Amino acid sequence: MDYDIADPGLADDGARRVAWAGRRMPVLATIRERFRRERPLEGRRVGACLHVTAETANLMLALRDGGADVALCASNPLSTQDDVAAALVAEGIPVFAVRGEDADRYYRHIHAVLDVKPDITMDDGADLVTVLHTERTELAPIGSTEETTTGVIRLRAMAEDGTLRLPVVAVNDSATKHLFDNRYGTGQSALDGILRASNILLAGSHVVVVGYGDCGRGVADRADGMGAKVIVVEVDPIRALAAAMDGYEVMTARDAAPIGDVFITVTGNKHVLRMEHFERMKDGAILANAGHFDIELDLDALGKAAVARRPIRANLDEYELADGRRLLVAAEGRLVNLGAAEGHPADVMDMSFSNQALAAEWLVGRAGSLEPKIYTLPAELDEEVARIKLESMGAGLEQLTEAQERYLSGWQEGT
Ligand code: NAI
Repeated sequence: MDYDIADPGLADDGARRVAWAGRRMPVLATIRERFRRERPLEGRRVGACLHVTAETANLMLALRDGGADVALCASNPLSTQDDVAAALVAEGIPVFAVRGEDADRYYRHIHAVLDVKPDITMDDGADLVTVLHTERTELAPIGSTEETTTGVIRLRAMAEDGTLRLPVVAVNDSATKHLFDNRYGTGQSALDGILRASNILLAGSHVVVVGYGDCGRGVADRADGMGAKVIVVEVDPIRALAAAMDGYEVMTARDAAPIGDVFITVTGNKHVLRMEHFERMKDGAILANAGHFDIELDLDALGKAAVARRPIRANLDEYELADGRRLLVAAEGRLVNLGAAEGHPADVMDMSFSNQALAAEWLVGRAGSLEPKIYTLPAELDEEVARIKLESMGAGLEQLTEAQERYLSGWQEGT
């Protein structure tokens, strides 16, 4: 079996963590159990480009139990958990991922996964599908799935200009994915990453959240819950208004720059904090990004302006400016929750990866009948994920009475 990982000797440590994560993923476990019986992916090859974490490992095992041959590479050079990669290789699943790999090796690994000629591809940020459309045009998978907002935006752009040549399920757009992953997952784990990198006290400090989408809202809520004074920076007037109604101060990045102790970008956009903002920041301000790509902070410009750059702690670099101010950057401006912490908790990824597993099954069941466009999973599948989750929590779900159903679907009854 071909693979490229840091150290196969880490397999036992990895297996323990994979099992622990699995215990917190009851929905995926239920789907895996059904997959084991029904084998809906029998004989299909799945090529996945996802963060190589203990939770992803559980998804890979569920797909394998569903009958698929699976190969995995990383969707971010810094997020790979080397022990998990080793554990998967020990399970017979080819993995091509090494934490800290350079761009060359990262893309070599994407090609290695495409070399298995996947029937289904799974992406987190659309790097795999992009390579499929540029360099590996000889391949024609049945379809692909996309995990994150940024990937879906890239794919929609491809669909609009007519370049997209395969159907893609936007797993990101399932309600159960979005709510858990973007809001609760990023909310908690982005702060976890910043705290692990810096060990600062959030209470009483000014936390500036740039972008108030699902992720930004989660980050703001959790920072608020820990006693921080939250400032939101937004370009969308409706979302900015929502932030103000949720009780946060809303201001421009320029105005927030001299106030913030911690800045967290979650926009999916480029250079949202740049030199004109860095110039106004306080000595000791911490900068972190939880958006998909490492371009939200203009670190090239900061690097050029700095007179010195030194690591201060694990995953925290200090940039010293000519006027003596020091700005601290967490996880090199990459996804802070994955670079400086362990990504989303397993409970969150349970929802995302249950949707991924169902999306793979959905694509295989419709092989050849789908158009090259972006699909969202049907609401019934989303609801199935929510129901299994509620059951696992012991929560009761109220049922509509027949009279209520009639009332809600009719128009005759008034007051
Ligand atoms: P979203 O599209 O719902 O929200 C982004 C918000 O940023 C929008 O309200 C937009 O108006 C705002 N924005 C754009 N440019 C801005 C600027 N220059 N200044 C201020 N605000 C600006 O997206 P969502 O779902 O919140 O995701 C945000 C990013 O986080 C994406 O890149 C996504 O892929 C990524 N993501 C990261 C996760 C993680 O684990 N860290 C998990 C899920 C998503």
